[in-house]
Amino acid sequence: METSTTTFTRSEHVAISPKILYFGTPVVLLSTLNADGSANLAPMSSAWALGQSIVLGIGAPGQTALNLRERPEVVINIPSPELWPQVERLAPLTGRHPVPESKRGTFRYEPDKFGAAELRPEPSQLVSPPRVAECPLQFEARAEKLHEGGGGAFVIVEATVLRVHADPRLVVPGTDHVDPAAWSPLIYNFRHYFGLGPELGHTFRSETPRVTL
Ligand SMILES: Cc1cc2nc3c(=O)[nH]c(=O)nc-3n(C[C@H](O)[C@H](O)[C@H](O)COP(=O)(O)O)c2cc1C
Repeated sequence: METSTTTFTRSEHVAISPKILYFGTPVVLLSTLNADGSANLAPMSSAWALGQSIVLGIGAPGQTALNLRERPEVVINIPSPELWPQVERLAPLTGRHPVPESKRGTFRYEPDKFGAAELRPEPSQLVSPPRVAECPLQFEARAEKLHEGGGGAFVIVEATVLRVHADPRLVVPGTDHVDPAAWSPLIYNFRHYFGLGPELGHTFRSETPRVTL
């Protein structure tokens, strides 16, 4: 039998225990519907796409998790980097009243998140929560499955995207492709906001290589 050997390298890494592990993921603004029919809006960075689904990681005590358990519709609004001040206006707010014990002292109750962030609600087409007009990409979605995570601390949501709305300036003319050279997400990087740097290259499966060459 053939054996293989691995040659290891010794690096200068140090073992650390960071309080947070936000290594740089795009920010989304989740709009959900409150019990009284008003809209809640919350920034999240634990969001990733798998096919036509978006998986969301949401703190269980917040209003967004409560809303999704009771009314499983959501708009995943995706802000561009220049919207970071509006995102940050939402950061200390919760739509949950009374403010849950775990959020007290850090978050305050705000029933009008759109007003507080100076963002404009726009009606959705297939779901009840409104879209955020300023966000260049907006995904209307249905929360299909909610799983408990972190021993009850989180809700992991599998949302099926029903309709994608895109600012026409981001779309490759005559196609359904988002032009990666025109679109840039807002990145949450260890609690700091960043945009994207210049393009480095593309994967072999890219269907839009010509727009970036
Ligand atoms: C940029 C950013 C990213 C965040 N990412 C998440 C996240 O992925 N999951 C989460 O539960 N909370 C996240 N938060 C915190 C929530 O926005 C916060 O708990 C908020 O109070 C939730 O609002 P709600 O209680 O009205 O749902 C993030 C906050 C900011 C500013």
